Amino acid sequence: MKIVVTGGAGFIGSHLVEKLANEHDVTILDNLSTGRKEWVDPRAKLIKGDIRDIADVRKAMRGCEMVFHLAAIADARSSNADDIYAVDFLGSKNVFDTAKLINAKVVFASSAAVYGDAPPPHRDDAECKPISQYGKSKLRAEKICPEGSLILRFFNVYGPRGHGVINIFTEKTVKYEDVKIFGTGMQTRDYVHVEDVIEALLLGFKHSGIYNVGTGKETNLLDVIDLIQRISGIRTHKSFAMPKKEIQRSQADIARISAIWSPKISLKLGIKELISSIDYKPKKK
Ligand SMILES: NC(=O)c1ccc[n+]([C@@H]2O[C@H](COP(=O)([O-])OP(=O)(O)OC[C@H]3O[C@@H](n4cnc5c(N)ncnc54)[C@H](O)[C@@H]3O)[C@@H](O)[C@H]2O)c1
Repeated sequence: MKIVVTGGAGFIGSHLVEKLANEHDVTILDNLSTGRKEWVDPRAKLIKGDIRDIADVRKAMRGCEMVFHLAAIADARSSNADDIYAVDFLGSKNVFDTAKLINAKVVFASSAAVYGDAPPPHRDDAECKPISQYGKSKLRAEKICPEGSLILRFFNVYGPRGHGVINIFTEKTVKYEDVKIFGTGMQTRDYVHVEDVIEALLLGFKHSGIYNVGTGKETNLLDVIDLIQRISGIRTHKSFAMPKKEIQRSQADIARISAIWSPKISLKLGIKELISSIDYKPKKK
């Protein structure tokens, strides 16, 4: 099957492409803003282009039967609201309009940010009140997804090539660097491993609807750091800085998706594997 993965050079996209390329003809559309060429599976065709440009989208999607739409400004804090809207909503519209024209199945990477700061656990059939431009753009894009699409709301994804807090703190710890916590460290997230996320994306071959992709477990930052330090056997110093404006608690309700998918990788195993995947040799003094 000819499949397009937008954002296929990024963290989650590159893992997905590795899996899809075993059986399918995969084309990636990516502008390489955060994605990397060296993460792209050589079996896939990479088109360097932008989802904001309808011509690029049409070129990449010509003749495809399925599109996994992952391209986005995923690090919402480092970009301004207009850029986020232009990529995460208007760019998504280009992808969905093209999919409608050629009758391609859509699997869309949405986000837990659609829930805003509502108290967890977040049910995927609850009313959404996003507060960030990122969450608002993702929700708006969900609403214009073609009928029959699979929409997955990822919680905090970690694993090799990741860019979230687990990746950052694990890397710092194995390099014997101090970790800086914004706020008390009691803020919670639902951390889900990228391999489990890929299995959820593959549900797109059979399923449609809107589902949460998380573990259903809430873990605070201090416990994450403690786990990293215990598993690595490296104790580094923790410092505390002024809190950032961020959601304090996040946890998926995975009751609905549990009938078709369940996470397999515990936080302990995921962190253990991440530590061993980091190739770091301390400099000799
Ligand atoms: N990582 C997480 O914890 C998380 C959580 C919730 C949702 N998501 C969603 O999952 C998807 C993948 O996220 P990720 O963590 O792999 O992020 P990422 O930044 O690693 O990947 C995004 C990819 O999209 C590409 N891209 C960005 N703007 C583009 C544009 N205008 N045109 C073409 N390509 C563009 C980037 O170069 C990158 O390769 C995103 O849609 C993100 O919103 C991720």
